[in-house]
Amino acid sequence: MSDASTPAVRLVDVRKTFPGAEGAAVERLSLDVPRGSVVALIGPSGCGKTTSLRMINRLIEPSAGRVEVEGRDTSTVDPIALRLGIGYVIQAVGLFPHRSIADNIAVVPRALGWDRARIASRVAELAELVGLEQDQLQRFPDELSGGQQQRVGVARALAADPPLLLMDEPFGAVDPVVRGRLQQELLALQARLHKTIVLVTHDLDEALLVADRVALLDRGGRLAQYAEPDRLLQEPAEPFVTEFLGADRSLRRLALREVGELSLRDGPVVTRGTDRATARAVLAREGGDWLGITDGVRFLGWVPAAGLAGEGPVPEDDLEAPAALVGPDDTLRAAMDRIMTARTAVAVVVEDGRFRGVVTLELIRRALAEPHTPSPQTPPSPEPSPEGSR
Ligand SMILES: Nc1ncnc2c1ncn2[C@@H]1O[C@H](COP(=O)(O)OP(=O)(O)OP(=O)(O)O)[C@@H](O)[C@H]1O
Ligand SMILES: [Mg+2]
Repeated sequence: MSDASTPAVRLVDVRKTFPGAEGAAVERLSLDVPRGSVVALIGPSGCGKTTSLRMINRLIEPSAGRVEVEGRDTSTVDPIALRLGIGYVIQAVGLFPHRSIADNIAVVPRALGWDRARIASRVAELAELVGLEQDQLQRFPDELSGGQQQRVGVARALAADPPLLLMDEPFGAVDPVVRGRLQQELLALQARLHKTIVLVTHDLDEALLVADRVALLDRGGRLAQYAEPDRLLQEPAEPFVTEFLGADRSLRRLALREVGELSLRDGPVVTRGTDRATARAVLAREGGDWLGITDGVRFLGWVPAAGLAGEGPVPEDDLEAPAALVGPDDTLRAAMDRIMTARTAVAVVVEDGRFRGVVTLELIRRALAEPHTPSPQTPPSPEPSPEGSR
């Protein structure tokens, strides 16, 4: 009933009407979550994100429609058993205050009847995985910082190695710096573990950063658009989406792309010792007021156009240091920021000390004109990992 092409989660015409409520909290939502992918549910407050998420693990029972997890209709599965097989992380973390961190992490393994030695080794392993110190394990939740508590919440959700994680604003309660770090840690974790993750957030940048696909909901759980981050930003499906994404859509796209994805050009750059006539021709062809000089490997600096008059090799005595250096892993947004503040209006790409090419605003503009094909960062992994409890 479940093969590699079966979505990890499938919602079919799911509806939730709360008793006594006027309209439906979720009207009619259909959504497939591919295995091994991160899907972010985002949308205005009250649009039904939490309700939709909780219908997946039956913390909320759908009023109509069908929810499938790994191809199984969840209404046919015992809800307790269902939830033991699905990790769940919430904003308030929900740790038991009078139990140690280790005991909090061990809740699900204990419910599954693991023996003490296995639980202890799994807890130690998880602490390492999420970046908790071993000496923090015997403390109580209120003796940890907010960010550390969030890590405990993630460790607890991962304890029995469930293939599916549901996260409801997992980083909502921490400050932006810690949130940024936790987001990066989540990405690193996901690159190792290949879970299926459904994450609710109201932070657009968070959704764009961590998700393979973003589901943007409007009131009543209406799915306004379900697309990869770059496509969402490039081709909003309707005015509601455009408005939700805001006026700086292109800047947000730049933050999703990396310098290494560009077809880099050498630009107005020559090797040291090149004669000035050739250098002038290169500059005339490439445009700009500055000529870059390399030693064949490293970028040495810039010569102003005025310094290229006359005969002989290009002068090197008064090179302007490259103010805008970027690496292949830098975002296009970072590259653009540096171009804007560099006198030469060009960013120099350097990798391991070697000159790789230059980035200009025109190159960035052209990259944005094309749709982005993301690298397959989260290939589906059909095999369960060794410590799986299933
Ligand atoms: N137990 C409940 N009883 C009645 N109405 C509810 C209940 N839970 C949620 N609702 C209503 O259902 C709608 C959707 O709520 P939900 O919590 O799913 O929104 P949300 O998108 O998660 O919002 P937020 O971003 O504020 O967390 C809201 O109008 C809310 O008031
Ligand atoms: Mg919510």
